[in-house]
Amino acid sequence: MSVRLWDKGGATDAQMLRYTSRDDWQLDQRLLAYDLRATIAHVRGLARIGVLSETERDALVRELEVLAAQNEAGELRLTEDDEDGHSAIEAALVARIGDAGKKVHTGRSRNDQVLVAMRLYERDALDELAEQATAGARALLDLARREAETPMPGYTHLQRAVPSSVGYWAASFVEGLTDAVDVIRATRALVDRCPLGGAAGFGVNLPLDRAGVARELGFAGVALNPLASQTSRGIIEAQILAAAWQVVAVIRRLAWDLSLFAMSELAFIRLPEAFTTGSSIMPQKRNPDVVELMRAACSVVQGALAEVQSLVALPSGYHRDLQLTKGPTMRGLDEALATSRLLPRLVEGLAFDRERMARAITPECFATDRAVELAVQGIPFREAYRNVAAEIASLPAGDAAASLRARVSLGAPGNLALDDLARRLERQAR
Ligand code: ARG
Repeated sequence: MSVRLWDKGGATDAQMLRYTSRDDWQLDQRLLAYDLRATIAHVRGLARIGVLSETERDALVRELEVLAAQNEAGELRLTEDDEDGHSAIEAALVARIGDAGKKVHTGRSRNDQVLVAMRLYERDALDELAEQATAGARALLDLARREAETPMPGYTHLQRAVPSSVGYWAASFVEGLTDAVDVIRATRALVDRCPLGGAAGFGVNLPLDRAGVARELGFAGVALNPLASQTSRGIIEAQILAAAWQVVAVIRRLAWDLSLFAMSELAFIRLPEAFTTGSSIMPQKRNPDVVELMRAACSVVQGALAEVQSLVALPSGYHRDLQLTKGPTMRGLDEALATSRLLPRLVEGLAFDRERMARAITPECFATDRAVELAVQGIPFREAYRNVAAEIASLPAGDAAASLRARVSLGAPGNLALDDLARRLERQAR
């Protein structure tokens, strides 16, 4: 066993240690690059207030940069013996440069160290999630443009309702994803404050250059009250997972629709062959497993969110319970990212069967149009509604394209305003 940062000479139970560390060192492997970056900023900050000499600072920064390069090359592997990444960094510094390494932890605690590493990781993950959600929205916008006027039935309660279009259907996902990106952006702003310098959660008796450290790490500002940032752990993560949930909830609806549209009896779409899987026993099968797992992704994120929320039930100050917010946060973000990364290519590969969709728009789908037309001619709508209801069985076949064109109010199938959607999307991407 390597010596713990907090070792004071007494005996420590090995089983207890394994229990408290659990998989934390594996999760910390992913935080290591961020932890090293934050440690460099911390060291420079300490030198600015005279706590470290320039020589010590240079030795520490040089070694931390070497560690970062080794980590990048996959050569810095944490083990269970390290307890966590924070301990591993200090141990490596002490092993390589001795006394200067022993000074790195002046004025900080693992409590603010893990907070800052998580926030740096989360900022990157949220940025990628916004990027992927935007890429998915762009693919759906292209589909909406390509098939703007392609008729398909619109359903309520899974019952045929009125004529709709592929463009209209696709545009609904564009808007849903664009809303989700707004939520991601708002969440990012919460994450974008630097908690480093709060130490164990109550500040420290040094005039730390917190603003300078925050700036070096690219944060928009400082997370002011250390007790607030310490106890934000879990609250911020829940918000992050809620934002990720919003992305995958929109994708879940898409996945559900696609699995229905691909069902043999409807057969409105065919998935790209490369996006289907086979059956081990039924030679003819091309299964939409991918769509089903994209649907299930939402449950994974939701479970992670519930796990994190349930941990936010603590009095003021750091508690080791908070360590358990790390796993579900990473799991939820990984799931949302993996799912959203697939979206553009899936959408690009969709092939719609216009013939089958047109045939599914049966005469009764025009009943609402008919009732409204009569109302426009002066018959009170309720009366028109009843008249049309009485002759449903004998309604003539309608013209789906004309029905779509006639729905001209803003956002409706005849007035999709795709350029407005595109502008909103591009504004977000800036
Ligand atoms: N692995 C710990 C966590 O994620 C690091 C902080 C440990 N702090 C402590 N006081 N034991 O919360």
